[in-house]
Amino acid sequence: MTRLLHPDVPARPGGVPVTTPVYQTSTYELPRTAEAAQIAEAVAPVGYYTRYGSPNAAEAEAILADLDGAERALLVGSGMAAVSAALLSNVRAGTRVVAQTDHYTAALTLLRDVLPSFGVEVTLVAQESLQDAVDDTTDLVYAETPSNPAMVLTDLAAVRAAAPRALFVVDNTFASPYNTRPLDLGVDLVVQSATKYLNGHSDVTAGVLTGRAELIDRAWDTARVLGPTCHPFEAWLLARGLRTFPLRMARHNANGQAVAEALAAHPAVTAVHYPGLPGHPQHELARRQMAGFGGMLSFTVASAEAATAVLRGTRLARNAVSLGGTETLITHPVSLLFTHGDTATGIDPALLRLSVGLEEPEDIIADLVAALSAAASPGRRGPASPDGR
Ligand SMILES: Cc1ncc(COP(=O)(O)O)c(C=O)c1O
Repeated sequence: MTRLLHPDVPARPGGVPVTTPVYQTSTYELPRTAEAAQIAEAVAPVGYYTRYGSPNAAEAEAILADLDGAERALLVGSGMAAVSAALLSNVRAGTRVVAQTDHYTAALTLLRDVLPSFGVEVTLVAQESLQDAVDDTTDLVYAETPSNPAMVLTDLAAVRAAAPRALFVVDNTFASPYNTRPLDLGVDLVVQSATKYLNGHSDVTAGVLTGRAELIDRAWDTARVLGPTCHPFEAWLLARGLRTFPLRMARHNANGQAVAEALAAHPAVTAVHYPGLPGHPQHELARRQMAGFGGMLSFTVASAEAATAVLRGTRLARNAVSLGGTETLITHPVSLLFTHGDTATGIDPALLRLSVGLEEPEDIIADLVAALSAAASPGRRGPASPDGR
């Protein structure tokens, strides 16, 4: 048994691996000197214990900090872990938080239900007028831009100017750092679901915070205690996904614009919400704040029934939550609400959300046009195959 547990390991290869191996270990052998205590006391040590950090997480963090122009990044196990660590490391009873009425549903639950139960004073206001609702008595502002699924923008520079004293935290998941760099606009701490565009392949759940070293170190201490680790293999996959990030984002931007324009020209579509369309009410702000407009959009059709018929009618676009992967996804947000106690108000029942993927744009448009035609005259498109495609 002892020999099984301590085999004679063949010599490690002399060459240096071109890609970083997956450090699939939960713990590391420590030096038997005072250096061990220094490693144990360090912030995010890479060779101590995987809940504290790992070489794979450190590699992804270096790339993510660079993308955002941040001093430091912290990788955690999901986007919600990033949101939670960012907020919980900066609030206590009595902290005055101002946030939007429109946020990703679980973030809204955290703001509206969880934080107030600990005595945090949270005020939720209409997103477009966030800058009018904050002032120098605000301790923390939390924004998400563009928001999900309405694609409304928050004017980050205006909010920064209106709340000079507040810690400004922004969820940049929809825009991604390719299209918006919030730290350059005065934001203090950026959170993102790396599950989406950053990884880009719908095969990883992860989250990231970026910002000044002091804020990231504090968030690391909160995450160390709460324990939402990003495991080495997930971090490794994320670092791999990040290698093609700008190439994917350029294509998401081009495809998003092409699909938005095609939908806007379709007679069965009553509205398209995409910041890249000149008709978007905040198009000028989008041009100032975003380098490109991304692959996320939402659109409405005549009725809730028509929306569910379109959802049933697509073949290429698959009915699945999440976003930012290589494949086009479609959802009907109203039918997915009221789960897990998460609610969002004011979502049009005739609205569909699209995460435009990397397919040929003509194929995505043809799929949507066929589904819109089938919804207008039921029976024109044959039944979906058993896997829904
Ligand atoms: C804008 C936004 N923020 C945060 C999250 C949470 O990310 P995760 O699912 O990785 O926890 C999501 C998930 O869809 C999101 O859309």
